[in-house]
Amino acid sequence: MSTAATVTNDVVRIVEVGPRDGLQNEKALVGTADKIALIEKLAATGLGTVEATAFVSPKWVPQMADAAEVYAGVAQREGVRYPVLVPNLQGYERARSVGVTEIAIFGAASEAFSKANINASIAESLERFAPVLEAAKRDGVAVRGYVSTVLGCPYQGEVPVAEVVRVAKALHAMGCYEISLGDTIGVGTPRKARAMLEAVAGEVPMAALAVHFHDTYGQAVANVAACLEAGVSVVDAAVSGTGGCPYAKGASGNVATEDIVYLLDGLGLAHGVDLDALIATGRWLSSVLGRDSMSKVNRAKP
Ligand code: HMG
Ligand code: MG
Repeated sequence: MSTAATVTNDVVRIVEVGPRDGLQNEKALVGTADKIALIEKLAATGLGTVEATAFVSPKWVPQMADAAEVYAGVAQREGVRYPVLVPNLQGYERARSVGVTEIAIFGAASEAFSKANINASIAESLERFAPVLEAAKRDGVAVRGYVSTVLGCPYQGEVPVAEVVRVAKALHAMGCYEISLGDTIGVGTPRKARAMLEAVAGEVPMAALAVHFHDTYGQAVANVAACLEAGVSVVDAAVSGTGGCPYAKGASGNVATEDIVYLLDGLGLAHGVDLDALIATGRWLSSVLGRDSMSKVNRAKP
């Protein structure tokens, strides 16, 4: 496998986003105890990062209204990170009041999506993030940054790669230790995904980049494979292929974590996750949500 000069991606870090991205789009409220159980089951599979919840406005995303109860209820495992989404200082303060030590801020490369998702232009969003990053720095809180709509926008269609590079670079310069590049509506294909990643890697070190694919058009695993070949070593995924954004209508779930683990095994890349335990967790979640798993691997395994 070819890698960028300064990157070795023989070991891949999976960022599990199921409890947040996976559940945020669920119409029926999932019980707080089930959310806590999901996070604890995922952490027990060997996943080193489990994005737990989102301290966003409950008016915008009712499913995440119990963020504080969920976070506080998790019996945290040593060595596992539990980042949470934070859109503004109010979210930051709510998160800190229950002891959060890692957050993720989320911006977009498309003006229209930024407005729809967080009610701010891109410039306004960066202004809004600045005091959050300042507070996080003061408190020793790690900050990850998302850039959404990196391969297309539900409102404006094409998104120039230069905009993705600009926003990713800005978030990194502001202090985000890692930038996750999100194909929010799952329209990307491998060559485009790789070209977008490489363009960003021209300005932000590859080692500080992650990829985040939704699977609307069935391209997510292929996109991840192409980006691994380009040298990325952090991949976001959601157990059972759950997920979607309430402000990106028609977008389907994230790439399934089970499918990523199977891919990494096939490529001979280390990840530290117990696939059987992950599959069992995916099946348990399917029973909670009352529907079949979206993970091909989960459905195929006896
Ligand atoms: P706004 O309406 O402009 O905010 O929303 P506001 O400051 O005017 O406040 C409005 C009300 O919300 C007020 O309450 C605030 O107190 C409250 P009221 O006075 O009316 O009773 N409020 C809050 N409450 C709790 N926690 C907070 C908070 N902030 C305000 N943090 C805002 C702006 C950013 C808050 C809103 O747009 C929002 O919460 N958006 C989040 C949308 C969201 O969560 N989307 C999904 C996550 S992003 C995603 O899925 C993409 C990703 O996966 C990557 C990819 O796939 O590309 C990350
Ligand atoms: Mg997402």
